[in-house]
Amino acid sequence: MINDIVKVLISKEEITKKVNELGALISKDYKGKNPLLICILKGSCIFFADLVRAVKIPLEIDFLAVSSYGASATTTGEVKVVKDLDKSIDGRHVIIVEDIVDTGLTLNFIKQMLMRRNTLSTKICTLLDKPSRRKLQISPDYTGFEVENHFLVGYGLDYAEKYRNLPDVCILKPEIYQ
Ligand code: PRP
Repeated sequence: MINDIVKVLISKEEITKKVNELGALISKDYKGKNPLLICILKGSCIFFADLVRAVKIPLEIDFLAVSSYGASATTTGEVKVVKDLDKSIDGRHVIIVEDIVDTGLTLNFIKQMLMRRNTLSTKICTLLDKPSRRKLQISPDYTGFEVENHFLVGYGLDYAEKYRNLPDVCILKPEIYQ
């Protein structure tokens, strides 16, 4: 796997530090609110597992699986719900947890869908934000790192379902996906 990588962009140590900062912020902002943190499968599963443990107030978790990219490196713009939430979110403070916001199409779809279910608040926490690729105006409320337009893998991010288990966020060699 490591031979397919140009370089480590964000090390696991930098990620840990940032996740702890995000956890502290969320703990402060949601004190007494019992927020529901929603993991958007599959990319955000590793970030999510670390983030929820960095939040030091009571919270609940749920999982939503959507698919927009398939095995291709560019989005089709179509978002499909593969697995819906287990419970009603009516009247809940919801935080959508993503690994990366790229065009914004996925998050825009998810945020609109969840808001229609009468949440009390709906915010977005993303590890990575790639604003240069945005097609829709959507701003995360909590961002770990703003990144440039590289093809990133690791710490949950994949290319054709590979590389999710790399501990750092890495730049993939162009010859792998071109
Ligand atoms: C990735 C990522 C986000 C989305 C971001 O998911 O996890 O959900 O793309 O892209 P966008 O801002 O252009 O919509 P993907 O569909 O690759 O599925 P995965 O999480 O299972 O890897």
